[in-house]
Amino acid sequence: MSINIRAVQQGFVGEVTAINLCAPITQAQADAIEKGMDDYAVLTFPGQPMTDEQQVAFTRNFGQLEITLAGQMAKPGERRFQQLELGDISNYANGDTSRHYAREDKKRLYALANRLWHSDASFRAVGAGYTLLHARVVPSKGGNTEFADMRAAYLALDDDARAEADSLVCHHSIVYSREQIGLAVQSADQGDKLKPVPHKLVIQDPVNGRKSLYLSSHIGAIEGWPVPEARAYLRDLTEHATQRRFVYAHEWRGNDLVVWDNRTVMHRARPFKDLQEKRDLRRTSLKGVGLEVRAPELRAAE
Ligand code: OGA
Ligand code: MN
Repeated sequence: MSINIRAVQQGFVGEVTAINLCAPITQAQADAIEKGMDDYAVLTFPGQPMTDEQQVAFTRNFGQLEITLAGQMAKPGERRFQQLELGDISNYANGDTSRHYAREDKKRLYALANRLWHSDASFRAVGAGYTLLHARVVPSKGGNTEFADMRAAYLALDDDARAEADSLVCHHSIVYSREQIGLAVQSADQGDKLKPVPHKLVIQDPVNGRKSLYLSSHIGAIEGWPVPEARAYLRDLTEHATQRRFVYAHEWRGNDLVVWDNRTVMHRARPFKDLQEKRDLRRTSLKGVGLEVRAPELRAAE
């Protein structure tokens, strides 16, 4: 049986049914999902009670999994999952399901930056392609994830604004996004991981030619611009790109899987009573090889 995709938000969000992600999928199904990801940019798969292993196996259909910076930095004793490809997006203290983070816990504060609009791993020379987020436990209220359509936002700019954006190269670092919430990330022991990396502000899909704004709260500078001017410009552009007409808010239900393409979508977490209620999601991400293709002249910077 072929998969079914229902438009939730035209050209942006689709809901996929008539597929079981708890079992291996066929090449035809993987192709249909990839096409769906191009036609839309966010796909939701309700009612998929996947295990960790099934999520990793499903993700592998679409490319090479990446290990998040948080995963890399966690000490083995503090890791919730032995599989480094699996990201722990929960408010459990060090993965202990009986304890919430304390209010001042460094990891909780670090994760709060997810509430800023961002594109996953844009602070890497090759940012993330798809991210897959699977809901296991959801709070009774709040805790949505919001998605903003960076292709529509680009198209809605006027000619002059598009031409200006087309010409710009931005510098991304995890230090910049944490700085925005007043959190200093130490650089002494992190070496190159914190060094800003350049990405074009406008990226283009090499196959279909569609352009999108590659915005992210990890951006802190624009090549050749004074920093205050860059920050003011980025604030305006982000405000434009995240108007409600470009945004979809996902209200999680248990066993939802949501997949988005970080090259065409920004996203952010919404608050919930995280010191009282539980929220447990699992994340896998793919290396965004398409982006490499999209900015070949920047690859030398790696
Ligand atoms: C992420 C992320 C948002 C959320 O896992 O990359 O941004 O709502 N999550 O938890
Ligand atoms: Mn994210």
